Amino acid sequence: MKILGIETSCDETAASVVEDGHLMLSNVVASSVDLHKAYGGVVPEIAARSHLEVITPVIAEALQLAKVTWDEIDAIAVTYGPGLGGSLLIGSMTAKTLAIAKKKPLYAINHVEAHIYASFITSASPALSTNYQLPTTPPKLPLIALVVSGGHSHLIHLKNHSDYQVIGRTYDDAVGEAFDKVAKILGLPYPGGPSIEKAALNGDHLAIKLPKARMSGRYDFSFSGLKTAVLRAAQAQAGQDFTFPSYELAGLLTSSQKADLAASFQYTALQTLIDNLVLAIADFEPSSVVIGGGVAANSMLRKMVKEQIPTEIPYTDIKLCTDNAAMIAALAFYKQADGSAVSPYTLEIDPNLSM
Ligand code: KG4
Ligand code: ZN
Repeated sequence: MKILGIETSCDETAASVVEDGHLMLSNVVASSVDLHKAYGGVVPEIAARSHLEVITPVIAEALQLAKVTWDEIDAIAVTYGPGLGGSLLIGSMTAKTLAIAKKKPLYAINHVEAHIYASFITSASPALSTNYQLPTTPPKLPLIALVVSGGHSHLIHLKNHSDYQVIGRTYDDAVGEAFDKVAKILGLPYPGGPSIEKAALNGDHLAIKLPKARMSGRYDFSFSGLKTAVLRAAQAQAGQDFTFPSYELAGLLTSSQKADLAASFQYTALQTLIDNLVLAIADFEPSSVVIGGGVAANSMLRKMVKEQIPTEIPYTDIKLCTDNAAMIAALAFYKQADGSAVSPYTLEIDPNLSM
C-alpha cells in the first residue's frame, strides 16, 4: 500500500510516499524558514503564500523520486490540524482536489499524532537510505511518546494504533517555543533550537540556576516561567533591572554570557522533559519509548536521556524529527487499516485540533 502524504501545518511544504507505513520511498521538504528569519518567527501570511507557490512541484518531486505514477498511489493523507489556518488550508485543498481528481481515498491526519509515527519508518529506498539513520525495528506497543516541538509538549500513552491517551501537556509555551523565545532574547538566529544547542556547546550548564516548574498534573509541563527566568538572568548579567527591554539585551551580553545562559536554559528545559518522562515510564511500564518532534533533534536531549533512562529509544533521523510528510503517510497506513477514510467534499481543517 503506497500512500502520498502532504504536510503544510507550519512553514514546511512537504510531500512523501511511504509504503506500508514503514518503507520511505521519497521525502521532499521545502522550507520557507529563510523568509521568516528576518522576523524572528514564522509569519503566517508568508508561510501560506510560500506553500501555495511550491506545493505542486513538491508533490510532483515526491512522486518522481519515489518512481511511482498516480496509478500506483493507493491513498492520499493530509494534515488537517493543529497548525496555522492559512497553511493548513493550502495542503488540505490540494489533497482534497487530488483525491477527487485521481479518485483516491483520503485520510485526515493529526500532526502531533504523526510525530510519533516518524519512528515507525524503518527503511528507505536505496536512493534515500544513505541519507537517513533510521531505527531498525518499529517501536513496540503499548508505548509512551514524548512529542516535543515548536507547538507541542505532549506525553502520550499509545495503547494501540488509534487508541491513545494524552497523559501530560504544557500549560503554556511548548518547549520548542521556549527555545525560540530564549534564542530571540540572546540575539541568536531563528529557529532557536539549533542556535541554542550550538551556543550551549561553549557554555556551562550549571552557571545559572534556573527554576523547574512543578505542575499539579503529574506529567504536565510549563515553560513560560523558565523563559522569564532566563530574561531576568540575562538582565542581571547585563547589569540592568527587570524594566530593561528584552530586544536590547543581546547587544550588552558577551558571547560567554550568552553561552552560559543558553547552556543553563537548555539543561533545565530538557531535564524538565526527562523528569516527566521518567515518571511516565515508571507508572505505565511501556514496551517502548518514542521521542519525536523538532526538539527530539537535540543531541544534548539524546545524551541526557541515555544517561538517565535505561530503555533503548528508537530515535529517528533528525530530518524526520522536524516537520515532514513521511510521518503523515506512515500514520495514514494505520488509519486505513481501521477503515477511517474521510470525504474530500466535507473535510475541514482544524487549526486548534487537540489529541
Ligand atoms: O516539529 P517541528 O519541526 O515543528 C512543529 O511542529 O512545531 O519543531 C520545530 C521546533 C522549533 O521550535 C525548533 O526551535 C525546535 O523544534 N528544534 C529544536 C532543535 N531543532 C529544532 N529544539 C532544540 N534543539 C534542536 N536541535
Ligand atoms: Zn511538528
